[in-house]
Formats: sequence, structure tokens, C-alpha cells
Amino acid sequence: MEPPQAGQVVVIGSGLIGRSWAMVFAGGGFKVKLYDVVQQQITSALEYIRKEMKELEKSGMLKGTLNAEKQLSLISGCMDLKTAVDGAMFIQECTPEKLELKKKIFGQLDLIVNNDVILSSSTSTLLPTKLFTGLKHVKQCIVSHPVNPPYYVPLVELVPHPETEPSTVDKTYALMKKIGQSPVKLTKEIDGFVLNRLQYAVISEAWRLVGVRMTNYCERYREGMIHVLKTFGPVPDFSGEIEQQISQAMSERTPADPEHLNARRAWRDECLMGLAKLKKQMKSN
Ligand code: NAI
Repeated sequence: MEPPQAGQVVVIGSGLIGRSWAMVFAGGGFKVKLYDVVQQQITSALEYIRKEMKELEKSGMLKGTLNAEKQLSLISGCMDLKTAVDGAMFIQECTPEKLELKKKIFGQLDLIVNNDVILSSSTSTLLPTKLFTGLKHVKQCIVSHPVNPPYYVPLVELVPHPETEPSTVDKTYALMKKIGQSPVKLTKEIDGFVLNRLQYAVISEAWRLVGVRMTNYCERYREGMIHVLKTFGPVPDFSGEIEQQISQAMSERTPADPEHLNARRAWRDECLMGLAKLKKQMKSN
């Protein structure tokens, strides 16, 4: 017997990130409405998803338990926002990184959604207080920041607004686990969240050392990177209370006895071997 559909999700914006999210949710057995204001974007997204899923199925890399045709039958395009969100339990917004546009969309959603659906944004740089403050349904709002493309990179940062209900975070976390992502909860918002703070620190140091070929990246993210880097604190001394906290958390995760350490090392080596294999395959193509 076929597994029942898990529920209905809406993806708003069918660009690079939206189409990948649609595949991830369909892989988890969810019915997906892909909403966009540009019909051609929906058409090309559906074509792209069909091609990708068929190829993934052929190579044995398709996510989930349903076959490609079944997953494809769960995804449909939609150009009417009210119809799209009707009956949805989760909405993932993936429109361009423009504050006013996103605020307008969440404002529209605020007027038509019920008190249960979760309103989630893919934003890379906009803080929840900028996006959601003042909304009637703010307790149902959260940022679920993916890595491009979410189908292949499972990390998702979950960032609540100060008024987001803990149950919204917990439900989003559970949903992300269910669809095979690796969610990480942030307890409060911070410029650049965690991933981009780490990434920007590395990028800015690479820039100081050699400069890098990254014209397109800089065009898109220059302003955001400078903003986040200005919020960095002084050089840490890597000692004291924080050192103790990190050390304790690491010991809890992997106790420092030989049995646990060796198992963790073996796991790490297995992952590295998998990566090396992949790199070799990519080089030979
Ligand atoms: P994109 O430009 O590829 O796609 C945006 C889509 O939104 C387009 O299909 C466009 O037609 C649609 N759109 C525009 N206005 C709309 C509206 N009013 N209602 C519905 N749809 C509308 O953008 P991309 O790269 O997919 O980014 C989407 C979001 O994901 C951004 O917030 C971005 O910061 C975030 N993100 C992007 C990553 C990346 O590497 N591209 C990584 C992680 C997050």
C-alpha cells in the first residue's frame, strides 16, 4: 500500500532555492504547491524538477521512499496565493533577497492564513525582527535558512523571532528532520546567523591573503558581508568560560575515552573517504 501523503507545503518563489526545496518536501511525501508571480518560472521549475528527479532515480540518489513519478505527482504550480495556501501546514518563502518584497509577501500571507500554519523564510541575511515584527501571526513565523542547493546540502539554520512560539521552532525542527535535512536551532537572531558569520570570516581572510575570483558573489552579497563583518567582536582570547562550555559540550557529544573517540574517528574517516571518492569521480568526468 502507498504511504499516505504527509500534508501540504507551499513554496513561494520557484527560483534556484524554491525548486530545490520543492524536491526536498516531495521526497518527504508532502504535497507541494509551487507559487510564483512569473508563469515561466513555474514552468521551467517543473521541467527542471522532472529532469533532476529522473536522473536522481537512475543513479539511485533519489531521496525518500516514493518513486520519481509519485514524487512528481505531488508537486504542482500555482499563481494564486490564496489557492496555494489553502490547507497548507507549512509555507517556505523563497523570493529574492529584498526586505520590502518579503515584508509585502508576509503581510499578504498574514491576512489569509489560519492560526496553525508555519510561515518560514529562506532568507540568507534578513533578521526575523525585520521580516516579521508586527504580523498578527508572528508566533508562527521563523527563518529556515538553507544552503544552496538544499537537496544536496542538508544543513538548515532555524532562527526564531523573539515572539515565535517554541512550538513553531519544534515543529519546524521535526519537519526538517522528517524530510531528511539537518536542522540547527539558533536561540536568537544574530546578523549573518551562524553559517554566514563563519563563511564571511573565511572569505574575508582569503580576500586579505590573495583576493579571489568572485565577481558575481560580491555583487550579490557585498553589502551583507560588510554589514555582518562590522558586527564581529574583538579578537577572542580562546580561554575562560566559553572554552569550558565548548569543551563540556564536545565531551557530552563524544566522551573522551578511547572507545568513543575511536568510533568518532572511524565515522569521520568514513565521511572523508566518501568525499574523496566523490571528488575523484568528479575529476574523471
Ligand atoms: P531566485 O532569484 O533564483 O528566485 C526567486 C524567485 O522568486 C523567482 O522565481 C521570482 O519569479 C520569484 N518571485 C519574485 N517576486 C515574487 C513574489 N512577489 N511572489 C512569489 N514569487 C516571487 O532567488 P534564490 O537564489 O532562489 O533565492 C531565494 C531566497 O533564498 C533568497 O532570500 C535568498 O537569500 C535565499 N537563499 C539563497 C541561497 C543561494 O545560494 N541562492 C542560499 C540560501 C538562501
